[in-house]
Amino acid sequence: MILAMVLRLSPSWAMVASPVTVTDITDKEQEFALDTHGFQLVVHRDESQARQEGYQNDSEVKLSYYAEMEQLIKNVLGAGNQSLRGPILRAHVDQSYKGAEYDLRWYLPDEADTLLAGRPIKPVYKDPLAVADATTVAEADLIPARIIFEDHERESWTVKHSPSHRWYFKYGQQPDEVLLIKCFDSREDVARRAPHSAFQNPRHVDEPWRESIEIRTMVFYGDQ
Ligand SMILES: *[C@@H]1O[C@H](CO)[C@@H](O)[C@H](O)[C@H]1NC(C)=O
Ligand SMILES: *[C@@H]1O[C@H](CO)[C@@H](O)[C@H](O)[C@H]1NC(C)=O
Repeated sequence: MILAMVLRLSPSWAMVASPVTVTDITDKEQEFALDTHGFQLVVHRDESQARQEGYQNDSEVKLSYYAEMEQLIKNVLGAGNQSLRGPILRAHVDQSYKGAEYDLRWYLPDEADTLLAGRPIKPVYKDPLAVADATTVAEADLIPARIIFEDHERESWTVKHSPSHRWYFKYGQQPDEVLLIKCFDSREDVARRAPHSAFQNPRHVDEPWRESIEIRTMVFYGDQ
């Protein structure tokens, strides 16, 4: 339960729409990777029982879809774990570095990286998800936002607009295309977090609503 959301922002803060160019990565998918850009598009057909049931059964999603995605992320990264899911509508990173620490203390007393894995249920034309190249977003552009729960605290980031940000999306993302977005990495020598936001594609405002399934995963690495 969220008791209060406290946004620590500058006094002049306001939600202002800033026009940005969002570039389609079609035919350049391979150029983007988690450690270099903070996101990666992975082709993976979901064979889980949850998909057979149209993702309508939450218990089945937790049972078979989580397992399917755990395996996928293990394959992509070499380790895997999972927790929550949830869709979002403004540019943000699911938790700040400090927020990741809060989460870790809450979930497990250990180190972990976190990823968001989004997969369309039907091809996406309306309100697709845009992701910013992590390396183009300066630390100074990330504004902490505390989320206070009854028994623990989370901290996320909202994003201050900057013309240096480079935004990307996959046009017509298909159900077998999973977008992995890095939300936190304990390593500091790689892309550590990629802001993301749904956006309106003016060519597709009249299409059906986006249907997608998103899970947030925590990834634990062994000794290296
Ligand atoms: C939902 O999935 C669970 C786990 O497989 C199953 O036990 C249950 O019967 C399913 N519910 C419905 C309404 O199909
Ligand atoms: C995922 O985390 C749970 C604890 O939340 C742990 O029991 C399980 O072994 C972990 N799975 C993997 C594959 O690391």
